[in-house]
Amino acid sequence: MQRILLASRPEGEPTAANFRLDSATTPVAHAGEVLCEVIWLSLDPYMRGRMDAAASYADPVPIGGVMEGGTVCRVIASQAPGFDPGDIVESRLGWQTHGLATADQLRKLDPTIAPVQTALGILGMPGFTAWIGLTEHAQPKAGECLVVSAATGAVGSVVGQLAKKLGMRVVGVAGGTEKCQYAVDVLGFDACVDHRAHNDARALGEAIAEACPNGVDIYFENVGGKTLQAVVPKMNVGGRIPVCGMISWYNGQAQSDISMSLDTATALPRIWRNILVKRLSVRGYIITDHYARFGEFLREVAPLVKNGELHYRESITEGLEAAPAAFLGLLRGENFGKQLVRVAN
Ligand SMILES: NC(=O)c1ccc[n+]([C@@H]2O[C@H](COP(=O)([O-])OP(=O)(O)OC[C@H]3O[C@@H](n4cnc5c(N)ncnc54)[C@H](OP(=O)(O)O)[C@@H]3O)[C@@H](O)[C@H]2O)c1
Repeated sequence: MQRILLASRPEGEPTAANFRLDSATTPVAHAGEVLCEVIWLSLDPYMRGRMDAAASYADPVPIGGVMEGGTVCRVIASQAPGFDPGDIVESRLGWQTHGLATADQLRKLDPTIAPVQTALGILGMPGFTAWIGLTEHAQPKAGECLVVSAATGAVGSVVGQLAKKLGMRVVGVAGGTEKCQYAVDVLGFDACVDHRAHNDARALGEAIAEACPNGVDIYFENVGGKTLQAVVPKMNVGGRIPVCGMISWYNGQAQSDISMSLDTATALPRIWRNILVKRLSVRGYIITDHYARFGEFLREVAPLVKNGELHYRESITEGLEAAPAAFLGLLRGENFGKQLVRVAN
């Protein structure tokens, strides 16, 4: 079997040298264990945090450890009741071609609902994150305006589509004209603003204000940085900001409070003042706290995916050895939709 290890901790933007491809002996399933072959590996922004030693909501990957990650796998041998060779399961085996899991670490997938890799995207952690953020933290109301950043990504695309179904005006913020076109034409958003076409937060804010003539009621925060600075001054009184992610800061500035960039430091008083004056609700959340509602999410959203009411898009990279490059691309916005690695056919 092959696996990708964390070779060293990055300083700032990670590079290929932070990862190492390694060979190992394929393990054998003992009592209570299932041996799985990884078919699909999910690449997600949170993995950047696991590469750092800084304290967070989850432990870091140790140096020399297998990179963490969600996977869809085929069972090849089972010593656990309820699992048979050939079953397709979701698990968290990480960046490797094979791995062992116990029954409680596996979720059997039904390939008749949707392609099995959707268990890592729209019908998995990212889709669930979108649904929780919207239903629990955003208090969406028909007729209000929601802005979502990383709008065509695994989380943002679901947030916007669900908000449209609730009767909201939805404005995406995405990188590039192709992504913005897709947000409007395929995802059905009312408008989408290209953050790459606007150099600074002021110009981006003006473009967002034009797309939201009655102001912004919900800002679904995925990126931080320039987009956060642009949207907050456009928020209405009583607005809500579910803080889902801040990918533009994952390479350093947010890792410790003393390393905050000058740009962020000068923006903070303005953002804080907006929160006060407009009585904004800002709510951070981590999806692992919410899995008690995963079944409810699947019952509501899986039929919408199956009947084609919700759209999704995938960026597929071939082969485990290509995972590091694909991950570095994700952090630069090179993915267009859910980033997956096809590890085996
Ligand atoms: N709270 C939780 O439990 C939880 C769970 C899952 C995900 N998340 C967070 O949700 C966010 C979206 O995740 P995802 O899985 O849906 O990823 P994604 O949107 O599929 O991919 C990441 C996207 O972020 C955008 N991006 C990257 N660097 C950026 C920058 N410097 N400035 C602005 N945008 C940048 C790019 O889109 P553009 O090209 O459009 O800019 C890129 O395609 C991330 O922040 C992630 O950490 C949080």
